[in-house]
Amino acid sequence: MEKTVVLVKPDALQRGLVGEIIQRFERKGMKLVGIKMITFDDETLDEWYEHHKGKDFFADLKKFMTWTPIVVMVWQGLDGIATVRKIVGTTKGREAESGSIRGDFGMSGQQNLIHASDSPESAKKEIKLIFDKDEVFEYESASECLIYSKEETKS
Ligand code: CMP
Repeated sequence: MEKTVVLVKPDALQRGLVGEIIQRFERKGMKLVGIKMITFDDETLDEWYEHHKGKDFFADLKKFMTWTPIVVMVWQGLDGIATVRKIVGTTKGREAESGSIRGDFGMSGQQNLIHASDSPESAKKEIKLIFDKDEVFEYESASECLIYSKEETKS
């Protein structure tokens, strides 16, 4: 099972979309293993978006991401990273597929409601950056046998 990080960004918090976003992952069959609210500090944000350093939108992006606290979550599932990114949709809301979160609720490329890890390496780095070890939980899911076949959960 693969873990992935989801951030509910300030625009989604302000628009009251936290419940809607959580519900989409729950209904899909993803398992919630970590959740809290944080305010990004400057240093963590620099590390989080290090691949965007130097781009013309970097300063604006940092300002946007510290506008309000954000909701941060870790979700777990089979092929969890790709599954969550499909539910989230492509970066620019106005181009994102209908049925995805960004496609259904957003227009912007920057204020795009939500972040999701894009690779196992990013997920590992992101979990380490914002979660303590005891904030990511392991527990038995009572519905796992309804969501996956025995074969799928073997490894
Ligand atoms: P996210 O999935 O968190 O990854 C990087 C973020 O940078 C992205 O969502 C957007 O919020 C932001 N971003 C990416 N491209 C642009 C852009 N061209 N202009 C402004 N913001 C952007």
